[in-house]
Amino acid sequence: MSPFRLTRTLPEDATEAALRADVLHGLTCSPKTLPPKWFYDAHGSELFDKITELPEYYPTRAEREILAARANEIAQATDARTLIELGSGSSEKTRLLLDALPALHTYVPVDVSESALTQAGHALIAERPELDVHALVADFTAPLLLPRTPGPRLVAFLGSTIGNLLPAERAAFLASLRAVMAPGDTLLLGTDLVKDESVLVAAYDDAAGVTAEFNKNVLTVVNRELGADFGPEAFTHVVRWDAEHEWIEMRLRSRTEQTVKIPALDLAVDFADGEDLRTEISAKFREDGVRYELAAAGFDLTRWFNSPGQLYGLALATPARPPSAPFPAADRITACVR
Ligand code: SAH
Ligand code: AVI
Repeated sequence: MSPFRLTRTLPEDATEAALRADVLHGLTCSPKTLPPKWFYDAHGSELFDKITELPEYYPTRAEREILAARANEIAQATDARTLIELGSGSSEKTRLLLDALPALHTYVPVDVSESALTQAGHALIAERPELDVHALVADFTAPLLLPRTPGPRLVAFLGSTIGNLLPAERAAFLASLRAVMAPGDTLLLGTDLVKDESVLVAAYDDAAGVTAEFNKNVLTVVNRELGADFGPEAFTHVVRWDAEHEWIEMRLRSRTEQTVKIPALDLAVDFADGEDLRTEISAKFREDGVRYELAAAGFDLTRWFNSPGQLYGLALATPARPPSAPFPAADRITACVR
């Protein structure tokens, strides 16, 4: 059995520095925001796994249906020897791809959640002793430093996690992904599709309150890591559909006028009664938009698979032309008013 390898691409103090920078930036902005990657400590990753089993949260089931029906076609089109998966989480749906790829030698799961990588990695090497599993604890929005592995490579970005990036961040992300892909490599991109507002809102505001707990988990992370005194019960989980941008927004709404102290930043943050902190966007897509965004980053969309009921789309794309000049870093694009 190959040993399970895990590489941290950044030292732990760099992760804490990134959290400090994001909290300082996001909570002194108007409107207040926090990036969604901070949901995923060990508890947040567990809560996300629970979300995927909720009756209201259809994207995981819809994507699994496509993979179950199309994994062989995807495998034939790519002939991959390495599977790189961004935001791999529990790698649960990935097993459908692993089973279908006959020539697969190496699996590289990439995630910010070390606990999710370790749990999934150990389970996978026990199930598939012949597979080389090399996990990377990394932020996929930062420049990707991928290990040298045999090609061709299939890069999977499932779960519609791309929808958690703002449009400018998506463009920067896709361009930098294109820059590390070689001729013969393939991208497999999962995208949740625009649909009836009531279905979308219910998926993020479930009756059992699991998504509300997931949303508030970001406050627990900031409390633990930066010594803040957020009272999760002093905020309400709010979900709204933004029809103009075609994205779901998750927010935490202050139930009262309050001041939150963040000692590690020497910061006191005032919230007005009813003021919102935006914790996540989850963009919903249309096939034409996905094709357009991929083309803008230098990819050709070669196959498009719809789930039954057109709930969800899975795109296969290949590098189309040499990458152009690097796209401006997303943090220089996203504006904030102080
Ligand atoms: N792909 C899985 C999990 C989706 S949940 C699925 O389809 O079910 C989103 C995953 O992306 C989580 O495991 C989270 O830890 C990871 N993630 C979120 N932001 C990230 C970032 N910036 N860099 C790396 N991983 C990230
Ligand atoms: C990981 N990501 C694609 C999920 C989503 O649907 O946007 C995260 C999530 N947020 C609330 N529920 C699930």
